Amino acid sequence: MDKIVVLDFGSQYSHLICRRIRDFSVYAELVPYDISLEELKKLEPKGIIFSGGPSSVYKDDAPMPENKIFGMNLPLLGICYGHQLIVNNFGGKVKRANKEYGSSLLTVDNNSDLLSSIGDSVRAWMSHGDEAEEIPKGFEIIGHTESAKAAAIANKSNSIYGIQFHPEVVHTEQGTEILKNFVLKICKAKQDWTMEAFVDNTVNNLKKIEGDVLCGVSGGIDSTVAALLIHKAIGDRLKCVFVNNGLLRLDEEKEIETMFKNNFKVNFTPINAASRFLEKLEGVDDPERKRKIVGEEFVKIFSEFAEKSGPFKWLAQGTLYPDVIESGVSKGPAAVIKSHHNVGGLPEWLKMEILEPLRDLYKDEVRKVAALLGVPEKLIKRHPFPGPGLAVRIIGQVTTKKLEIAKIASKIVEEELWEAGIYNKVWQAYAAVGDDKAVGVVGDERRYGNIVMIRVVDSIDAMTADWTRLPHGLLEKISNRITNEIEEVTWVTYAVSSKPPATIEPQ
Ligand code: XMP
Repeated sequence: MDKIVVLDFGSQYSHLICRRIRDFSVYAELVPYDISLEELKKLEPKGIIFSGGPSSVYKDDAPMPENKIFGMNLPLLGICYGHQLIVNNFGGKVKRANKEYGSSLLTVDNNSDLLSSIGDSVRAWMSHGDEAEEIPKGFEIIGHTESAKAAAIANKSNSIYGIQFHPEVVHTEQGTEILKNFVLKICKAKQDWTMEAFVDNTVNNLKKIEGDVLCGVSGGIDSTVAALLIHKAIGDRLKCVFVNNGLLRLDEEKEIETMFKNNFKVNFTPINAASRFLEKLEGVDDPERKRKIVGEEFVKIFSEFAEKSGPFKWLAQGTLYPDVIESGVSKGPAAVIKSHHNVGGLPEWLKMEILEPLRDLYKDEVRKVAALLGVPEKLIKRHPFPGPGLAVRIIGQVTTKKLEIAKIASKIVEEELWEAGIYNKVWQAYAAVGDDKAVGVVGDERRYGNIVMIRVVDSIDAMTADWTRLPHGLLEKISNRITNEIEEVTWVTYAVSSKPPATIEPQ
């Protein structure tokens, strides 16, 4: 499979470069900027991209790639900070400039390769404080903006390019076309990253593993697809365990059991551990502690099962690419935003190795794989649900009362979105509850009741998210149903914060 490697210099957009490239069926991978030449060579890239980043190349502590990477004789594209790195490394000059943030008009001066077929000018997204003052020998300017005279440069004979703007963000018109020009025309990468190829490769690789595999399935699409891929490769050497942690959506445990038993022929054991989890969570209100407790309890249950039904060499998980990047486990300088319980290593006493067949995939890619593997559409379309479940949707301590409120209110949100034909158009939709209370009037009585927060977001990959502008009539209907059907609730609010600065889940 042909591969483009993106070196991550810390831009919030770095992962989007991979995302865009994969959209036109070429495999792209994000690696830390300080990857060694040896490691990089092992990946056998067809081309290299330097991402943007918050630093300045003239600062002492500026992140620099290993110097020999510049001389690998591979096509190279620098974006923003990456552009300045190229200018600086090949003998040009980068200077501090007036900050430019937002959309600028890029005029194309030479449309022969990188900027071909995008027209004479496009709106390009800028986000920088430095710019190229002098371009290196051997390079020419192929595009400029009003404030950046060297907004796009090229050394065509060596296939080295630098662009000051971000082609990966949607605000850059023809941004994907520019990336396509680099990846397909300049790197000559083949468009062979298809989900059919992914399934074949993954199943072939999984066939090589020795020993039995234990897979914790949550009923969500990620762990289900992970399990089905492994099952395709090793059959009954895979055992699936489903743990009811008491933090699931209303009636979810019954639905999952039915689905696994009716649709898939995998070895499946349900374990009801609800009271065990809820006891451990009693009195805990710190979000990260709650996540840790849930994660640890899962691991303990798996290891108990393994002792009884093992030995298992592997523990399989449905970790996805954004979890891997966001947890900061193996990728560039991106800070850890939240700890996701299915990334970040397992305790040493658990004598199993970890198997993550989906760790290179984005969510929409998993959905495509699911369809190929015959997963029912209802599950493919079901919104993602966090591993720690309602523990991260209940603000403060998890109590049975708050659990009941969150479950019923979330069911109402889901039902109303289905009814309005909106469920499939949004990324996630649920109701959260905390300890805040507000006065309501019920009948002739004033009552001090719970506040329920509705959260509905649009997103492509959960890395960023925007709150969904639901019709007011729909919000009113949801609010009325919640206050009518759940006695304890007096107020319903709607969360209108995007990610960033908020996150999708409140805890
Ligand atoms: P946040 O809240 O970080 O969520 O914006 C991003 C996506 O990840 C899900 N999420 C989790 N998934 N373990 C998981 O498996 C977790 O601890 C966790 N926390 C958040 C969240 O539902 C959203 O889709």
